[in-house]
Amino acid sequence: MHDLILIIDFAEQNNQAIARQIRNLNVFCQVVPSEKALAQIDSKNPKGLVLSLTQNLNESEQRILDAIVEKNLPTFEFSCIEDASKILQSPECEQTFSSFLFDTCQCSGDWKMQDFASDSIANLREKIGDKKVLCALSGGVDSSVCAVLLHKAIGKQLTCVFVDTGLMRLNERNEVEEAFGKQFDMNLICVDAEERFLSKLSGVSDPEAKRKIIGEEFIRVFEAEAKKIGAVDFLVQGTIYPDIIESGTKNSAVIKSHHNVGGLPSVVDFKEIIEPVRDLFKDEVRALGVALGIPEHLVNRQPFPGPGLGIRVIGEITKQRLDTLRLTDFIFRDEIAKAGLDKSIWQYFTVLTNLRSVGVSSDERTYSQAVALRAVHSVDAMTASWARIPYDVLDAVSRRIVTEVPNVNRIVYDVTSKPPSTIEWE
Ligand code: XMP
Repeated sequence: MHDLILIIDFAEQNNQAIARQIRNLNVFCQVVPSEKALAQIDSKNPKGLVLSLTQNLNESEQRILDAIVEKNLPTFEFSCIEDASKILQSPECEQTFSSFLFDTCQCSGDWKMQDFASDSIANLREKIGDKKVLCALSGGVDSSVCAVLLHKAIGKQLTCVFVDTGLMRLNERNEVEEAFGKQFDMNLICVDAEERFLSKLSGVSDPEAKRKIIGEEFIRVFEAEAKKIGAVDFLVQGTIYPDIIESGTKNSAVIKSHHNVGGLPSVVDFKEIIEPVRDLFKDEVRALGVALGIPEHLVNRQPFPGPGLGIRVIGEITKQRLDTLRLTDFIFRDEIAKAGLDKSIWQYFTVLTNLRSVGVSSDERTYSQAVALRAVHSVDAMTASWARIPYDVLDAVSRRIVTEVPNVNRIVYDVTSKPPSTIEWE
């Protein structure tokens, strides 16, 4: 077992940044709400404590604080001050934490992703025994890493269900089948639900109506598959650490709603939810994915919305319009990767607008579709700034799209940030 540091949360601020700082020094840590601190100190036997404090503790918090002090563990007090997040990123701060962890607490600093992987696999194996587990695999990072972790723990007792909504990017389903079905030899069910989704979406152009239909249809398709499989003991959820601490550790974990998994518990016959990566930050989930041997292109994926390309075809969704979008999106991604920008841009994609405009091709007048390119830098998707992609990259993308994709004769680049725009167009 590895050294553990508990961050006791009195302040509801900076906990995530403190946790990052400690984990970067290869020591595992967890954030605990102050009212649960005493019990957790007793049960988890931490090497030291970081008290994340504010000036105004109420009476009961003050009592807890006194009781914690009586435990006589190495303790570091971090008072919440203005600009704390900046200070936390400074080398001085790293030095302070480092001497607390290694000199005061005598931590060994040996926490590695590989250890986390093998510990998790052993724990999952013990917890699950010979029981059955069901996982909704979206192809996104979190669900992929969960699936592989469970597969390594319990092999064919795990069934993964991937729903092909017809709103996926080019080759996406093949990549999932290749990696998880073939390479990892998982028990993988791919449901071909394109026709179902497209017929439900036919004639619908309002963005929120599309989202609702896609979300509901996803649940129906998954429910039908789950019925075929029958009762399972565990359902997997790809909750990650920020989902828990951003919602405030003071309350029990509030899981972010995401249509891919948010509605599932009510339609699947299961006994318990397991969340294998709930203690990890996003980049740690990626590092775990690499440690587990998941292909790089799946581990380093950009965020992709649950409703998929359905909200990137502006207006009515048809198979033909989706195919057009898919090809433009593929070309944009390909050129971004060729230019070496794929790791530095948060999200980049194309949008099929509902605008047609006049153009000229081989001396013929055309009246074809306009495609928008969108690329943004962001840290948490709450705000974003448009990416200053070099002109020659934009030029290459533009030329390729109008040459290779039929019925597209105009490319525009979206130069708005969030706010006032959102990242997606719908
Ligand atoms: P916006 O467009 O609101 O997007 O700036 C912020 C982030 O969330 C993603 N996004 C979604 N993800 N279901 C999702 O799971 C959705 O309906 C949805 N809409 C937007 C978007 O891609 C960006 O990363």
